[in-house]
Amino acid sequence: MIIVISLILHQVYLALYKNAIFKVMNLSEKIQYINWKPEYDLKLVAMNEQHKRYVDTVNLLAECINENKCSDNFLSIFHRLAYYAENQFHEEERALYQNNYPKFMEHRREHLAFIARLIAFQQQYAENGETICADMFSYLREWFEQHILMFDKDAVEYMSKGA
Ligand SMILES: [Fe+2]
Ligand SMILES: [Fe+2]
Repeated sequence: MIIVISLILHQVYLALYKNAIFKVMNLSEKIQYINWKPEYDLKLVAMNEQHKRYVDTVNLLAECINENKCSDNFLSIFHRLAYYAENQFHEEERALYQNNYPKFMEHRREHLAFIARLIAFQQQYAENGETICADMFSYLREWFEQHILMFDKDAVEYMSKGA
């Protein structure tokens, strides 16, 4: 009797243990969203709004990956990013140029590299489907951290000094 009870308890323990491990693995696989913080705000309201919309789009991609529905939404996410690149980069570059920003060409090269990467992602998606979604998310998050929070910030600080 004692052996039977201990066997049952052992099975229950194993089931709970596996379930716990499974949950931990699942949690660790989930993509973390970008939370907008007040310190991300730049002094140009219009630019902030566009950057916030960019973050919303990146978070939408994260949500789609987490819920395994990237393929249903890839094209709309891609179009939102293309719209961001086309409009925001153009306005930003015009402001930088008009303010004689010394790193104008360097900044513009980054924008062009983003556009080229976006087109490459679209081609990769056509060939490989949603397997590229996680890579795209990593690139977009890196862009937020390396370009928006650094390059754009530098440019806005330069322009606000001259204002
Ligand atoms: Fe920007
Ligand atoms: Fe920029």
